[in-house]
Amino acid sequence: MAVQIFAHRGASFAAPENTLPAFEKAAALHVDGVELDVHLTTDGRLVVIHDDTVDRTTNGQGRVNRMTLEQLRALDASAGRQGYGGVRIPTLAEVYRLLEPTHLLVNVELKENRRSRDGYAVIPKVLALEESAGMSGRVFYSSFNPFLLRELKRRSPQSKTALLYKVPLARVWKLAARLVADAIHPKDSLLRDTALVSQCHTRGLAVRPWTADEPAVMEELFRQQVDAVITNCPEQALHLRIDT
Ligand code: G3P
Ligand code: CA
Repeated sequence: MAVQIFAHRGASFAAPENTLPAFEKAAALHVDGVELDVHLTTDGRLVVIHDDTVDRTTNGQGRVNRMTLEQLRALDASAGRQGYGGVRIPTLAEVYRLLEPTHLLVNVELKENRRSRDGYAVIPKVLALEESAGMSGRVFYSSFNPFLLRELKRRSPQSKTALLYKVPLARVWKLAARLVADAIHPKDSLLRDTALVSQCHTRGLAVRPWTADEPAVMEELFRQQVDAVITNCPEQALHLRIDT
């Protein structure tokens, strides 16, 4: 099976990351899917933005989870990119509305890192939205927070989950099994000179490294037959996939 290509934060090389134009451009490239980052606002809305604060990617300041959707929507999310003035932080619902008519898959990274009951508030919201937006079966959830993944799977065994990590984890499949996760999402450098892909495949775990941006790295990952590459350079990945 062809290695899938996921545009990281949308086509973030061509448009402001995690915005509707970035997702629109990714869809136009005919990638297999997009990766995006989700936070909850203080009034409980799902918004697509990477950082805990709005400082880097908007003209505002403050923590996303201390701001209302209305406050966030007042901000310019163009991050200074020419031609994108006035672009807003999208809700996850808006992104789904844009992508539903396409074939794209969506890797929702849950940026909720608190281990608490409050930290799980995002779970019923993403699950309900996936269904109401007609995206059932086209979404999988990743997180660096294993507790969140385990809880999501407990509440929704049919949902697909993936463990994100960036430092070597010995026998990561054991941790994945404890979480009943369906995939691992390692930092791309962790797959260099390892048999990890086949060790995971033997155990029914998909492997989707991130963020593979160097041609040589992409080629190596294609050779290893990972399930997907998550990349900031999807156009290049599409070209290289044809050639390999
Ligand atoms: O999902 C892969 C990657 O996006 C994780 O790191 O910091 O870019 O969200 P980060
Ligand atoms: Ca991410």
